[in-house]
Amino acid sequence: SERARFVVVANRLPVDRITADDGSVDWRTSPGGLVTALEPVMRRMGGAWVGWHGASNETVEPFEHDGYSVIPVPLSGDEYEEYYEGFSNATLWPLYHDTVAFPEFHREWWDAYVTVNRRFAEATADVADDGATVWVQDYQLQLVPKLLREMRPDLRIGFFLHIPFPPTELFQQLPWRSDILEGLLGADLVGFQVPGGAQNFLRLVRQRTRHRVERDRVHVSGSHVCTARAYPISIDTHGFEELAQSPEVIAESESLLEELGHPKQIFLGVDRLDYTKGLRQRIRAMGELFEEGKLDPADTVFLQVATPSRERVEEYKRLRDDIDLLVGRINSEVGGVGRPAISYLHAGFPRATMAAMYRIADVMVVTPLRDGMNLVAKEYVACRPDTNGALVLSEFAGAAQELKQAYLVNPYDLNGMKDVLMQAATDSPRERQRRMRALKKQVRGSTIEHWADNFLGDLQG
Ligand code: G6P
Repeated sequence: SERARFVVVANRLPVDRITADDGSVDWRTSPGGLVTALEPVMRRMGGAWVGWHGASNETVEPFEHDGYSVIPVPLSGDEYEEYYEGFSNATLWPLYHDTVAFPEFHREWWDAYVTVNRRFAEATADVADDGATVWVQDYQLQLVPKLLREMRPDLRIGFFLHIPFPPTELFQQLPWRSDILEGLLGADLVGFQVPGGAQNFLRLVRQRTRHRVERDRVHVSGSHVCTARAYPISIDTHGFEELAQSPEVIAESESLLEELGHPKQIFLGVDRLDYTKGLRQRIRAMGELFEEGKLDPADTVFLQVATPSRERVEEYKRLRDDIDLLVGRINSEVGGVGRPAISYLHAGFPRATMAAMYRIADVMVVTPLRDGMNLVAKEYVACRPDTNGALVLSEFAGAAQELKQAYLVNPYDLNGMKDVLMQAATDSPRERQRRMRALKKQVRGSTIEHWADNFLGDLQG
């Protein structure tokens, strides 16, 4: 088959293969910000997307999707446990998110990580045309740049990390820290969400390697120059704006309002069910506001959507149970018959339904303990039909460095968070509009097209 001039490599493909009980096969949009952001880039650029199809012990043939080729990379059951659930999501994920959960270190997990990274590099080397541009994504594939350069020195190789790059003290805990650093340095350009991430990375390179560093450029000994910079990711702003104004979404938002019993005020949370998202803190803060009578469940509802994620990993199971318990306790104490204070949905929804929810939310609550960027915050701003909504946003989300006019909170400070939640809900329309106008301007001025053009411009430059 034809080789591609542009290749994206990510652990997940934009669509997951779902096999139903009766054996029938279906494809579903994958969860998470990475796919939301990159899908429109791929539709515009064409080329190939190399990734895993979301089912283990299954081989899937390459196919065409939305104008580009999809190249599935298989994972065995053991690799799923050791590379995906283990090293990626029980070692790297908590470590890179400031150890908000305890990272586990296991040598077998690392071995699987190396094996799978090599498989991704090989699949990419097979599909990339001579001199093609390859863009490797995220923490699951940090060894791919170096492996790929060894196989295919003719390629232009970029890497983008969607999650935070940790402070040096935390990164140094990794027994395999040198391999990961050298893996990333195999790229011509390494991108981070915020300048602090690039700084952490460059500091480590200076401390732990012998390569010469000159500002943001690393002269990798005997090889090439690797540049490290921040490229804050965004969304397809125009696409979300249009979607939110479509008749279908408007109709859906009306029926949602109906189902909720036309409350006077709606608070909304939308997250993958992940311990980095600050859900425990958020729900406790909202619960106390209801219990203290500052919010009245007769006219106010807190709608929380939590999309199932990494469900077999211990910390995620514990989180799910904790949230069930917390929500149940609050709802049994406040609210009336058929009027729960918290409407909690443990499910994923299509993008149109999300847009309908954003439309009706008076206060959007985004309170991660640590987050690379957080695209939900940007989606909310884009989907607002007017300038009436309020965004409450954690200081510890990358997005807070751009969305400065949001109502910023420290999610560890429950009292502080409660005050800001009330402020966001009760500020004058004028103040809320002033902030929302500034947020809209920001989200329009820095879209996913800008992100891709900036990164790829520098990569080719
Ligand atoms: C985050 C990560 C992505 C990941 C997504 C969903 O956005 O940065 O790499 O794909 O979460 O997580 P999952 O484990 O389901 O792929």
